[in-house]
Amino acid sequence: MKGLLGVAWIFPLSPPQASTFSKKVDLLFYTLTLGSLILLFCVFFYIFYFSTKYRRGSRADRKQEHTHLLLEVIWIVIPFFMFVGVFLWSAQLYMSMNLPPSNAMNIYVAGKQWMWKFQHADGTREMNELHVPVDLPIRLTMTSEDVIHSLYIPAFRIKHDVLPERFETTWFQATQPGEYPLFCAEYCGTNHSGMEGRVIVLTQEAYAEWTKNTQLGIAPIAKDEKNPANSGRALYEKLACQTCHGVNGSGGGVGPKLENLMGSKVDLADGSRVIADENYIRESILKPNAKIVQGYPAVMPTFQGQVNDEELLSLLSYIQSLRSVSGSETQAPSENE
Ligand code: CUA
Repeated sequence: MKGLLGVAWIFPLSPPQASTFSKKVDLLFYTLTLGSLILLFCVFFYIFYFSTKYRRGSRADRKQEHTHLLLEVIWIVIPFFMFVGVFLWSAQLYMSMNLPPSNAMNIYVAGKQWMWKFQHADGTREMNELHVPVDLPIRLTMTSEDVIHSLYIPAFRIKHDVLPERFETTWFQATQPGEYPLFCAEYCGTNHSGMEGRVIVLTQEAYAEWTKNTQLGIAPIAKDEKNPANSGRALYEKLACQTCHGVNGSGGGVGPKLENLMGSKVDLADGSRVIADENYIRESILKPNAKIVQGYPAVMPTFQGQVNDEELLSLLSYIQSLRSVSGSETQAPSENE
């Protein structure tokens, strides 16, 4: 399974390079390492050079008083541009690692002492194992049910903290089918070191086959009859959200509409403007008065204590599925053949 690229590209100490980030991160890392080694060499070279030249009793000239302006300018300007260059380079890489492409397939992740839970858009659930198709961007929406964890997949060069009470996102695009270890990289209690699993990257055909098998109940994986968007809708109805937030023209009026809310810009009563992302929606459900939408009264009660993290994820998934234009209920990854 492991192609030529599975072999470390520059340095034999790296894990396999199995995502689109791997080479970019390695290149930056080894550039920084090489730069540090060169600087280290220069520093030690001159330590030995000067301590030999000006050792006690040597005949070296100790009264040099003239300075080289040009030399000083050079050693200030060149390192300045080197450091700014490294900053721009790494900032650009950091940004691209934190902005998932809009066509990415969404997978929900919940960290818990001491296991990883994954849920695909079609409802398939996995524990400590994550099956993904190769060559497709995968967006991970992550939360923790207890303490801070950190999802770490060395072969993909991604590591992202997973926090309670909020959603974090990261993404990757695998380039090599195969199996790669997955770790928790934040000390989270007694069995922190055992909080690990594996990512299984399948070819797109094998992934389609795998999702079909999980739907038939052949693969040894729990399957919800309801995908997260559907259980979110059931919850939306159970909590009577539609009384205020109408959907598809029915009901509502008291509260803002939920169609096309996800990712849109929202004007607030205080004149500021926010992007309706996962954390905004989460806050609006749990602490409705934190941000009041312009033109609406602050009358929504809090749902703190009434919905747990998993239910929040399904509500989120339902709101994400509300696109009035297409009218499609979910973005099931299996549509992609
Ligand atoms: Cu979870 Cu360490």
